[in-house]
Amino acid sequence: MGKYEDVFQRSIQDPAGFWGEAAQAITWDKKWDKVLDDSKKPFYRWFTGGEMNTCFNAVDRHVNSGRGDQTAIIYDSPVTNTVQKFTYKELLDQVSRFAGVLKDSGVTKGTTVIIYMPMIPQAAIAMLACARLGAVHSVVFGGFAPHELAIRINDAKPRVMITASGALEGKKLLEYKPLLDKAIQEAEHKPEKCIIFQRQIVKAPLIAGRDFDWDELMAKAKPVGCTPVKATDPLYILYTSGTTGKPKGVVRDNGGHAVALCWSMENIYGVKPGDVYWAASDVGWVVGHSYIVYAPLLAGCTTVLYEGKPVGTPDAGAFWRVISQHGVKVMFTAPTAFRAIKKEDPNGEFIKKYDLSGFKYLFLAGERLDPDTYHWASKLLKKPVIDHWWQTETGWPITANCMGIEAFPIKPGSSTKPVPGYNVQILDTNGKQAGPKETGLVTIKLPLPPGTLPTLWQADDRFLESYLKVYPGYYFTSDGGYVDEDGYVYIMGRVDDVINVAGHRLSTGEMEEVVSTHQDVAECAVIGVHDILKGQVPLGLCVLKAGVTKSEEEIRKELSSMIRNTIGAIASYKETCVVKRLPKTRSGKILRGTMRKIADSEPYVAPSTIDDPVTLGEIEDALKKVGYAK
Ligand code: COA
Ligand code: AMP
Repeated sequence: MGKYEDVFQRSIQDPAGFWGEAAQAITWDKKWDKVLDDSKKPFYRWFTGGEMNTCFNAVDRHVNSGRGDQTAIIYDSPVTNTVQKFTYKELLDQVSRFAGVLKDSGVTKGTTVIIYMPMIPQAAIAMLACARLGAVHSVVFGGFAPHELAIRINDAKPRVMITASGALEGKKLLEYKPLLDKAIQEAEHKPEKCIIFQRQIVKAPLIAGRDFDWDELMAKAKPVGCTPVKATDPLYILYTSGTTGKPKGVVRDNGGHAVALCWSMENIYGVKPGDVYWAASDVGWVVGHSYIVYAPLLAGCTTVLYEGKPVGTPDAGAFWRVISQHGVKVMFTAPTAFRAIKKEDPNGEFIKKYDLSGFKYLFLAGERLDPDTYHWASKLLKKPVIDHWWQTETGWPITANCMGIEAFPIKPGSSTKPVPGYNVQILDTNGKQAGPKETGLVTIKLPLPPGTLPTLWQADDRFLESYLKVYPGYYFTSDGGYVDEDGYVYIMGRVDDVINVAGHRLSTGEMEEVVSTHQDVAECAVIGVHDILKGQVPLGLCVLKAGVTKSEEEIRKELSSMIRNTIGAIASYKETCVVKRLPKTRSGKILRGTMRKIADSEPYVAPSTIDDPVTLGEIEDALKKVGYAK
């Protein structure tokens, strides 16, 4: 048996033994009673009875063990021309004082706090300070519009909100404070206090009695220590797109999360304490939570927090500059970032200017890694380019080529093999196991390993409905795919209404809810269509109400601005196609999948349940007029 096979089999045959051993890497205030508690199946809990603190494990213990002078965070911001480093000691000082600020604001164990911030170190400091107090943070991606923030405020009911005065998105100045104010105005729940980090680039006017200046509060704050929490207590809520307008509040616990993330750094990414690790993502996404903040710090690495883009800040050499300047050993980003670099610098002229000799691996995730991008990146870097697959729900990779266990030959198009702890199974629609290379629905046999979601925030039933009831005994990933004869997993895409736009997870169902409120729209469908840079972009197909005389162009502009104002610019909703009617089954279900195939010029077969086959031809003609279905 190979090393991987050995480790993998042990994780599945003896999960309690396997993760109990991995848990030795974490400092516990109280040892657990049970590694795997299956007393409330299908709800599984890890390390029940155990107590610890995530912030202590990510910060304090490294100072205590002699890493105090090592750099913990490198903040690299080409947009503000700043590089700032925080040692573990400096991070401890900032985090413990900001925890003091939060404590004085009434934040204690279990209090919820929303963080709506750009990519600045204060975002990580705020997250860790919440963890220090046992409070539950919910970071909301800065690119979401006020309405999306309001939805999250109503669901998480934060006592305190933390934001910054603004950000530079490429060359654009974005003011955050007006967005925060608008969201609070819209939300039914009102936070008691807002803490604003004022940046040099823009100053925000504060509302007396509600808004407080970060620096002023920090100047008066007293540092506070770590509050031990139960391993099963929530560390954070991260909202992610589901199939409706109501996002899912993915819950992460403390103990299992710390154990799994710490384990993943060495075993999946092949990094050791002291190594420099860079996830070029945003703290508002799961990649940012897990691999900008928690995992690298739990493992005693140096993490890079990058406020910039792959291109345009200032050029397509930005990634190479960061890697060589900071001695990055392992980098993680989304394939779309590499497609953006490839578009600007197809021959890789910029990379020639930098010394990347210390760089070992590039990990990519967030969307399917198309073979073209894989070949381009690996030819350019001459280092392993590793596709790995995971989801907000799991919090860490499900399939990967585990560099710290056994490196397998890469097969482009595959994210290699299941990570130890994940018993991946491909099932057909009847729940029967699919054979090699047979496409089916990708599931994970329960129990999921530690670090994965124990439930949805105050929505156990939705958790069961969405993930566990589809195939009892299995977690349903909502991805389709297959496994080949060598055990390599191929993820082919979502089978629900979730799309991935430039590595950002969005719901077409949610967009449909917005589009359908347009006064002239009688009926609509939003589908994800192929985009050469962003992987997918949304496309709206609308039937207009009788008597509407507006041009298609006017409708397109209006819908684009409605989505931008309600969901956010990151939805990248630009294209609308006006159609006479939508193709449906006889029971009235809109044939979104078939329309997507038509738009992407893929072969399709009209389903036998179709109401009127003529509609498909009409759709094809309409799509051709707007540049699809070629
Ligand atoms: N705050 C506010 N607005 C944001 C934002 C943020 N944090 N991030 C993006 N936006 C805006 C952009 O400015 C853009 O606005 P525009 O339509 O007015 O131009 C819009 O949202 C779409 O953004 P994006 O999809 O990022 O497109 P882009 O053309 O600006 O950049 C890439 C394209 C590929 C360079 C960029 O998407 C990228 O770097 N992707 C990597 C994705 C990633 O790291 N994903 C995380 C998962 S690992
Ligand atoms: P998110 O929750 O934002 O991480 O998005 C999760 C979804 O992104 C998954 O369900 C997949 O559809 C897709 N995804 C993430 N990583 C990959 C990958 N390596 N290959 C294919 N799809 C991926």
